[in-house]
Amino acid sequence: MRLTNKKAIVTGGAGGIGRASSLALAAEGASVAVVDLNIEAAEGVAAEIREAGGVALAVAADVSDEQDIERVVATVLAEFGGVDVVFNNAGIIRRTTAVETTVEEWDRVFGVNVRSIFLMCKHVVPVMESAGGGSIINTGSGWGLKGGGRALSYCASKGAVVNMTRALAIDHGPAGIRVNSVNPGDVNTGMLRDEARQLAQDTSSFLAEAADRPLRRMGEPEEVAQAVVWLASDESSYVTGSAMVVDGGGIA
Ligand code: NAI
Repeated sequence: MRLTNKKAIVTGGAGGIGRASSLALAAEGASVAVVDLNIEAAEGVAAEIREAGGVALAVAADVSDEQDIERVVATVLAEFGGVDVVFNNAGIIRRTTAVETTVEEWDRVFGVNVRSIFLMCKHVVPVMESAGGGSIINTGSGWGLKGGGRALSYCASKGAVVNMTRALAIDHGPAGIRVNSVNPGDVNTGMLRDEARQLAQDTSSFLAEAADRPLRRMGEPEEVAQAVVWLASDESSYVTGSAMVVDGGGIA
């Protein structure tokens, strides 16, 4: 058990990568707060963890909202007594070019993908500082490193995630807080199916295209979760400001 006595927050914890990471963190001994807009699904993940003998709670929140983030941190402090690990993972995608993107959609993508991380760090870093450290992991994307087509706001937001991760690592490293991004390629979750819908493409051919990479398949959420567990654990004690790529070789 690599995370015994650690207390973790996972945002977007009801979705594909968030659920797998919540289960994996709990399996290593962490108490996990599963945070999501979809409270029913978050409750389901928390119940799965408890059924497996772990400790979990579900919290409803819109991660782009500061009051919600303050309530999440206060709830976790009241229930778990601290926060050692935060996985800022909630995210949305809009498959549109600059011409097709509305200002409202641009702001929403940045609210959920970027402002959320700023807000969580604003409220959780002081807690970690007073405890002597912690590990923050942010979900970027391969497209935050190399860009991609017809997803302008998403690519811009994920580029911001990668670079804000480095800036956070510089600011808070002296307090013992490590901050890293995990950057998946195509992973078998609801998001990929949502993209196929947005692009009006056949889901199975869209998923087949996602497998066109050196390892010849898309990733599974559990494979991203193992990178998250490692970054959360003391095994990665000298790793901060990094952009870990988990993409089957798609960036190569
Ligand atoms: P998903 O759609 O399965 O899960 C996302 C979760 O975030 C959902 O449970 C959703 O309810 C929640 N969420 C959305 N907006 C929220 C908000 N405002 N407040 C709280 N929760 C909210 O997607 P997936 O694939 O698990 O994505 C997780 C992260 O991984 C995202 O940041 C995504 O951009 C990133 N990613 C995913 C890739 C993929 O191929 N699936 C590839 C690269 C990055």
